[in-house]
Amino acid sequence: MNRPESIQTEQSSSAAWWRRAVVYQVYIRSFADGDGDGTGDLAGLRARLDHLVELGIDAVWVNPWYPSPLADGGYDVVDHRDIHPDFGTLAGADALIAEVHDRGLRILIDLVPNHTSIEHPWFQAALGAGPGSPERQRYIFRNGRGPDGDEPPTNWRAVFGGSAWTRVDDGQWYLHIFDTSQPDLNWQHPEVRDEFDDIFRFWLDRGVDGFRIDVAHGMIKDLSFPDVAVDRLDERGQRTPDGSHPHWDRDELHVLIRRWRAVLDDYDDRMMVAEANVHPDRLPLYVRPGEYHQSFNFDLLKADWSADDFRSIIDGAASRAAAIGAASTWVLSNHDIVRHATRYGLPPGTDYERWLLDGPHEVLDAEAGARRARAAVMVTLALPGSAYIYQGDELGLPEVWDLPIEVLEDPTWERSNHTVKGRDGCRVPIPWAKDGPSFGFGPGPAWLAQPPIFGDLSVEAQDGDPSSTLNLYRTAISLRRDLFRRDEELEILDLGTDVLAFRRGSGATVVVNMGSAPLPAADLPADEIVLSSEPLIDTDLPPDTSIWFAPPA
Ligand code: NOJ
Repeated sequence: MNRPESIQTEQSSSAAWWRRAVVYQVYIRSFADGDGDGTGDLAGLRARLDHLVELGIDAVWVNPWYPSPLADGGYDVVDHRDIHPDFGTLAGADALIAEVHDRGLRILIDLVPNHTSIEHPWFQAALGAGPGSPERQRYIFRNGRGPDGDEPPTNWRAVFGGSAWTRVDDGQWYLHIFDTSQPDLNWQHPEVRDEFDDIFRFWLDRGVDGFRIDVAHGMIKDLSFPDVAVDRLDERGQRTPDGSHPHWDRDELHVLIRRWRAVLDDYDDRMMVAEANVHPDRLPLYVRPGEYHQSFNFDLLKADWSADDFRSIIDGAASRAAAIGAASTWVLSNHDIVRHATRYGLPPGTDYERWLLDGPHEVLDAEAGARRARAAVMVTLALPGSAYIYQGDELGLPEVWDLPIEVLEDPTWERSNHTVKGRDGCRVPIPWAKDGPSFGFGPGPAWLAQPPIFGDLSVEAQDGDPSSTLNLYRTAISLRRDLFRRDEELEILDLGTDVLAFRRGSGATVVVNMGSAPLPAADLPADEIVLSSEPLIDTDLPPDTSIWFAPPA
């Protein structure tokens, strides 16, 4: 497929586009429903591209859109070379790619190499063919332990809860690091490796600009199957500092990364970003020359609203990236975590998963959360590297924490024996209009009902209001081009314990008051204020507010 001129021209530019991009994440089920069946789809996305252009973003990342039983929201793929019928068709994807390019934007898609769906033809063939068959070699089947083999082969735990092994009718067990519906592929198998080379090419040939690689720290397992030390059994085991975990972040997986990178390098100007949930010291390994172009930095997802935390995360990530010539990525929210407008309204140290289920919900200060979320995006958009925005962030959407348990779809809810409510509350469909059965998401009700407050937060409600969160995002993204995109220099400034402040290579300064008292004007730079996250009543900087100062005249 020919790529449009506007895209080709920039390929020769020395600054790779993805190093400074603003990437907008589309959770396709919940973005916009074009055909009226209650589920978001490609038609809905195509119809709303102008919203993204107006926002000023550079690229769209679309969550998995493949045929799938949607047991894990589409991260359970049946066919990597097609589109889920609820979302559209391959022809619709081609049209979307072309329309995205026509608008001068780029498109990343989500690739899921660690596992497939149990409904994938390979897994169905493996079940049918029985123990010892070549079909079983493409997955990880093993006999169980104990005299009757009725204990799992190892003590490994699934991320969504329970054992990472499920037993099939003939007595063998298969490995699934996530849900039981997501069997792990055996990446030691040459057919698996070849298949994914081909899948990469399939989409590259169709014109996608890159990939977000799911569970980039998975794939390779220690096939001698040691048990995991008991104190590392929970998900924190993913973030060990030394690559010694039997199924997370193993050194051998870098061979795969290099192989995929070689495939991408056959094409002009494409990129891949790793979803590698690893120890911060291990992250640079993923973005060495010849490996990923970028890796998500998830540390801000876990940070409290605290200048100390933000400072040390930003300083650490930026210096690690600079040391190896990589570009950082900044993420405040995504489809896997409580939205940051809600996180920042909770007391420091809150365990979000526990809070969702058990509360106490009255501790939530939604107004402070919304204010802090606005201040926070003025941080991520001003840092060197690329900023990822999750759909609805630009509307200041909160987590829908009070979803009734009957509507929950996240497999976590069942797998955790109803102890973890899961991620549905950040996946509620986007409100486009003030009214209507799904606030403009589609002509009828949405697959997951939205709360009444979504009308006031809709695009329609915010569009013409100069003080809205939507217009703050639009203005900030536009100003970012001149103030923060031209270089990758960062100097952290000391303006006090509760203040996050830094200066960029352009000379522009960012100051965020993360404390509870106003910051006196005398402590602020004397430069011109170009943007603030809240209206400034006097010259002091109020709590929970960010300011961008222009470079000195
Ligand atoms: C990470 C994805 O972001 C998440 O949504 C999914 O459940 C797991 N990987 C498993 O694919």
